[in-house]
Amino acid sequence: MKKIIYTISILVFVSCGSTKLLSPTQADVDRGAKKYTDITLASLNEGKSIFETECTKCHSLKDPKKKSEAQWKTIVPRMTAKANKKAGSEVIDARKQELILQYVSTMSN
Ligand code: HEC
Repeated sequence: MKKIIYTISILVFVSCGSTKLLSPTQADVDRGAKKYTDITLASLNEGKSIFETECTKCHSLKDPKKKSEAQWKTIVPRMTAKANKKAGSEVIDARKQELILQYVSTMSN
């Protein structure tokens, strides 16, 4: 019995340690609108979902808050090139790349 409780607490601990992405709110849209004129709650959510699917193929989800907007501006194109090279096709096209950047840079500050 002790072993089971021990195992369960380890599992809970490990799952809480993984990156949980924040869902965008209207406040994020308002903040992001200073940089991206075409930003909406829908576009932020779309960026989040592309980020979650395309950017977890080689490593775990990176926390948007851990990099500055300036860093994301160089990292996202660099990672997009990596993702497309690995897939052998344009899995992240220019529009998706822009949506990912919009999401991570808006949520980073
Ligand atoms: C083809 C595999 C692959 C895919 C897909 C991928 N990455 Fe990466 N990523 C890597 C590797 C390898 C590294 C470590 C070496 C490096 O920084 O180039 C890395 C490192 C990173 C880092 C740390 C970089 C730093 O300078 O601290 C971030 C942040 C990151 N990736 C974000 C992303 C995002 C955002 C996407 C989706 C657009 C993505 N990754 C998709 C392979 C990938």
